[in-house]
Amino acid sequence: MLGPQGGGGIPGRVGLAFGGDYNPEQWPEDVWPEDIRLMQEAGVTLVSLGIFSWALLEPEPGRYDFGWLDRIMDLLHAGGISVDLANATASPPPWLAHRHPESLPVNRAGSTLYPGSRQAFCPSSTAYRSAAQALTLALAERYASHPALVMWHVNNEYGCHNAHCYCDVSAAAFRRWLERKYGSVDALNEAWGTAFWSQHYSAWDEIQPARLTTSFGNPTQELDFRRFSSDELLECFVAERDILHRVSPGVPVTTNFMVPNFKNLDYWTWAEQTDVVSNDHYLPGWEAEPHLELAFGADLTRGLAGGAPWLLMEHSTSAVNWQHRNYAKTPGQLRRNSLSHVARGSEGAMFFQWRAARAGAEKFHSALLPHAGTDTKVWREVVQLGDNLRALAPIEGSRVESDVAIVFDWDSWWAVEGDGHPSADLRYVDHARDLYSALWRAGITCSFVRQGADLSGYRLVIVPTLHVVTDAGASAVSEYVAGGGTVLVGACSGIVDENDHIRLGGYPAPLRELLGVTVEEFFPLRPGERVHLTTDAGEEWTSRLWTELMTAEGCEVVASYSDGPLAGHPAVTRNSFGSGTAWYVSARLEAADVAALIDRVVEDAGVQAVAAAAQPGLEMVRRRVVAAPGSDRPGATYLFLINHSDTAIEVAAAGHDLLTGDTYDATTTVAAGAVLVIDESAPADFEEA
Ligand code: GLA
Repeated sequence: MLGPQGGGGIPGRVGLAFGGDYNPEQWPEDVWPEDIRLMQEAGVTLVSLGIFSWALLEPEPGRYDFGWLDRIMDLLHAGGISVDLANATASPPPWLAHRHPESLPVNRAGSTLYPGSRQAFCPSSTAYRSAAQALTLALAERYASHPALVMWHVNNEYGCHNAHCYCDVSAAAFRRWLERKYGSVDALNEAWGTAFWSQHYSAWDEIQPARLTTSFGNPTQELDFRRFSSDELLECFVAERDILHRVSPGVPVTTNFMVPNFKNLDYWTWAEQTDVVSNDHYLPGWEAEPHLELAFGADLTRGLAGGAPWLLMEHSTSAVNWQHRNYAKTPGQLRRNSLSHVARGSEGAMFFQWRAARAGAEKFHSALLPHAGTDTKVWREVVQLGDNLRALAPIEGSRVESDVAIVFDWDSWWAVEGDGHPSADLRYVDHARDLYSALWRAGITCSFVRQGADLSGYRLVIVPTLHVVTDAGASAVSEYVAGGGTVLVGACSGIVDENDHIRLGGYPAPLRELLGVTVEEFFPLRPGERVHLTTDAGEEWTSRLWTELMTAEGCEVVASYSDGPLAGHPAVTRNSFGSGTAWYVSARLEAADVAALIDRVVEDAGVQAVAAAAQPGLEMVRRRVVAAPGSDRPGATYLFLINHSDTAIEVAAAGHDLLTGDTYDATTTVAAGAVLVIDESAPADFEEA
């Protein structure tokens, strides 16, 4: 079973999932048999069906037309292809807004957003919610026992276009949410710090969502509005999920996330509510090494799944259509991307979409089956990937190994990027990615955990910009270090509490004792400005964007600022605390210097690379089979080696490659652009296990 239980794949299937969004309603029915035939040729095992089909399934309120869906479900089943069936609530039909104009979303400036695109609904709308739940019930009753059904797909990329609605319906829902949270207006006044700028409220009715206002809005109001908005959409999901659980017990329910770039939903709270964590990822084509961003997203998704298997629900075979310039994937890149997700815990590789569209706003988006047909680069690579995923069946249900955790926190992301802060250049994910990328380059796999999580299973914990720190979050880090752990805390951490009020007494107040430092003032840098640091080993490091004036209080100074206004002051420190060690970096270092810092921290923590030795462009990840019911090879390990560079790389690795069948004794050559998945257990080991 795919999900928190681990072990095995999607119920009813053996092997890794391969396929994508399938929109047969956009094509004449005589195309469908060809779809099935080509899906079989490519080795497709799973399709996500009907995601945007509400208007066709329910052409008038309460009148359902399931005929076409019955026919394609039966055809898919006859073709041996399983279905992740959408409940189709992602995009309401035009009749909903026509009859219930108050169901439309309103943006911050007060403008209504009309149908004509997708997701045109207010998350708090009763009209939307009851129509969506009625459709969910009708679909669940009709298809609960259809043999093709293996998973329910609720909505689609919640909040992609309508995460924040500022209409009067939302305003009333926000007030109800605040009443539940605070109980009294006085408690809200205290939490929101409304003594500032004459914002004191006397009654609930006076309170607004974070609408467009004259200057900077109240930061706690902004933070609470973000929390409310995430919860409001989650309430939509949970209500629909509960219907599906009730009518088709045992069929897992998922909804696709947008990690790592989607700021608007706190996915830690969402992940707790899904049976299977699934994610959509699109490559930032403009980046020089987009595979590092991909890996960051995949590892964060696995963190949301609590380390259990998850599913890559969408990515692209080649170009998307919504970036400023939509770059086609180079030969082999599709395979490397897909297998990198699989290396990092995905139980397969799914795509948007099966057949490239001929009409609509996404007609220039790539697909498994391109406009030009099957005699194409994309189709040949799709068929090869299908083969590869079949060959990788033994890895199903295995877990990714990692000694390093990164604390990732949506509250901090929201708060640190708010208005009125020391520098708008301090971007939460950028900082996390700088630290992550250095670990990737060192050949070290990271997991992600939420603030306050138990850290005891890790040798090293990285805390990038934990701007909002709760008492529990601060204690978890301190106790971990006291017990012998190693932590690296990044700039601008530990600054405010969960109400976004400064923690007084010198920054980062709740982490000062742990780190042995006091920060008294922030010194952000100008665009292009650089400040230098000298390390205790005589190296020169460079900072951009950010520096801090701090005093060392009993800690070692690893590097000091050597020029600029902070010359002579500590910049990077290391403190012994209990049985462990706490590092602090007050600067945003250049990539090479982050790497040098990470080398030292990793050595301190005794963390090893996945295999010897890390080399530029080489991705290394290990999955291990866990002892669980149904796992016949507990302890078996699979080493993924993905060469993103254009030169061959030698690695110390032994075993046989599941993709080619080749066997290696001690060293392995990974050709430029190639992927190897080495089963490291010798045949004799399997028999003993
Ligand atoms: C998202 C959506 C899909 C499609 C793709 C295009 O992931 O879920 O419906 O719009 O983007 O990249």
